[in-house]
Amino acid sequence: MADDSGLVSSETLSSYNMIKTETQGRVAVVTLNRPKALNALCSELFYEINDVLARFDNDSSIGAIVLTGSERAFAAGADIKEMKDTEFIGNYKSNFLGHWTEQISKMRKPIIAAVNGYALGGGCELAMMCDIIYAGEKAVFGQPEINLGTIPGAGGTQRLTHAVGKSKAMEMILTGSVNLDAQEAKTYGLVSAVFPPEKLVEEAIKTASKIASKGAVSVQMAKEAVNQAYELSLSSGLHFERRLFQATFATKDQKEGMAAFAEKRKPNFVHE
Ligand code: CAA
Repeated sequence: MADDSGLVSSETLSSYNMIKTETQGRVAVVTLNRPKALNALCSELFYEINDVLARFDNDSSIGAIVLTGSERAFAAGADIKEMKDTEFIGNYKSNFLGHWTEQISKMRKPIIAAVNGYALGGGCELAMMCDIIYAGEKAVFGQPEINLGTIPGAGGTQRLTHAVGKSKAMEMILTGSVNLDAQEAKTYGLVSAVFPPEKLVEEAIKTASKIASKGAVSVQMAKEAVNQAYELSLSSGLHFERRLFQATFATKDQKEGMAAFAEKRKPNFVHE
């Protein structure tokens, strides 16, 4: 694989210890692969996730990314054993969890989380950093940090509340034991679809391929605009959306997309 600057090679990608990567057409699949610890997010795993996502974000041959784990666990949270003896001063100085969460939030390409098994604590937060969540039938979403004498630290109090509403988020976060199964997560709007476990990644790849077949500039702009719904007032958000909508008329893909409609043929997007 080569990024726009030609710096990324397949040798570099194959050197990860805790993730596996593959590409299918314009879709990259990143699989967390630390099975003995249920994909607990230790610093090496954090680093590898950030590194590979940044590489795919800069690779113009990739249009969308699927992030998944194993059938037993998407991720069982931040690595408790690694962080248990760390201290406030060190965590504050190193901005523990900050770099990780900020970097994923800045990704421009869409990421679909395909969640089988446990998505607990930082695992649930990682799924919620993605743009779309699909769940396998046995997925479990929860924020059990309170049982460890701490609280969610990678977005759980904010993103879960946006997704499921205050009462359910409070119940989950304050008890640490009220979890959502896949169907409940769908009912609350945390996930958009539920599939049999063995079909989950395939379905996520299908959706990612569909997204990746659209014009990459409008996909990126649409993602940016939807995310602003969490940041801006309605009038500012509508203004932001309209400006981006107008900007799409400067792209080749808008000309091609509308011409193809008028000529009753499929568009041939060039991602420019
Ligand atoms: N950190 C470190 N190791 C973990 C882990 C975690 N978050 N979750 C699981 N593991 C390890 C276990 O210690 C165990 O290792 P050993 O075989 O060496 O003992 C291995 O994974 C398998 O786990 P279990 O034997 O516990 O498996 P189980 O099927 O009985 O239970 C589970 C599964 C319910 C997910 C249970 O492992 C569990 O409760 N894990 C912790 C979940 C949790 O509290 N997550 C929040 C972490 S804090 C956080 O994420 C902060 C944040 O906001 C970022």
